[in-house]
Amino acid sequence: MPSNKDDGGWKKFLWNSEKGELLGRTGGSWFKIFAFYTIFYGFLAGIFIGTIQAMLLTLSDYKPTWQDRVAPPGLTHTPRSDKAEVSFNLNDMETYLPYTKALREFLAKYDDELQRDQMKYEDCGNEPASYKNRGDFESDIGIRKACRFSRTLLGPCSGIEDREFGFKEGKPCLIVKLNRVVNFRPKTPTSNESIPDDAQHKVQPNVVPLYCTNKKEEDAGKIGEVKYYGIGGGFPLQYYPYYGKLLHPQYLQPLVALQFTNLTLNTELRIECKVFGDNIGYSDKDRYQGRFDIKITINSL
Ligand SMILES: *[C@@H]1O[C@H](CO)[C@@H](O)[C@H](O)[C@H]1NC(C)=O
Ligand SMILES: *[C@@H]1O[C@H](CO)[C@@H](O)[C@H](O)[C@H]1NC(C)=O
Repeated sequence: MPSNKDDGGWKKFLWNSEKGELLGRTGGSWFKIFAFYTIFYGFLAGIFIGTIQAMLLTLSDYKPTWQDRVAPPGLTHTPRSDKAEVSFNLNDMETYLPYTKALREFLAKYDDELQRDQMKYEDCGNEPASYKNRGDFESDIGIRKACRFSRTLLGPCSGIEDREFGFKEGKPCLIVKLNRVVNFRPKTPTSNESIPDDAQHKVQPNVVPLYCTNKKEEDAGKIGEVKYYGIGGGFPLQYYPYYGKLLHPQYLQPLVALQFTNLTLNTELRIECKVFGDNIGYSDKDRYQGRFDIKITINSL
């Protein structure tokens, strides 16, 4: 039989009323331990918070200050497929339906009804104009207005009258945009030297020109006329700079629509499109930096 003596000892350890000890320690002793850990962890937390604060102070809320150089923008197109290929048969609507569907979905973001709010949008003109400065990133202005961009600027590629975007007639449209880069101001070309002769007529003030041509020598003369729709047939400067998601939530990129009006049928054609600007470069690693190429095949058989 275990004696009750032990139980008494255990209870005494938990709370010794004679000495005023809890778990074998006096109140004063517990207080010292408590105080020590409070100060110790408080100190650690202080260092931690201080470090984070110092980091946040050097970071602006809105501007990507860690980037010393703004990344060059990508040039992307709709419709877009994994294989960078548009291939369809004139006599079979099913074959071009995915492309026209992608165009309709993409352009839905540009519907005029979505751009009515006067507090969020403003007209920036339908002719190329200079950069639109909307104040410092750091200022208290907060959210900036966005320039409207009406689908009607895209002419026969707007999808308003021709829901098939020319695919039915073998004159397909592509919609091209420059990807958003916060605080990037594309520069127009300052000289004609770097620009192919055939594209030089596209150089004009306040617009970054886009030019498409055959990628391969043997396709020369098979591409036919390419028509350009949009403001100035390129990317007009009044849509820049972009202030980022937080300050510029309604921002719409200016679009350029290309219409290939006389492509040679039943031939795979490789077409390259490029934007020309003083601060727009190309890269061997990134196929979409400032340029893209696409294979187009229209079958009529
Ligand atoms: C480039 O050439 C075009 C036509 O040849 C001309 O209209 C334009 O002014 C030239 N631009 C520059 C910057 O030299
Ligand atoms: C279309 O291109 C062909 C050559 O591929 C040419 O003979 C014809 O004149 C062009 N049509 C138009 C309207 O430019």
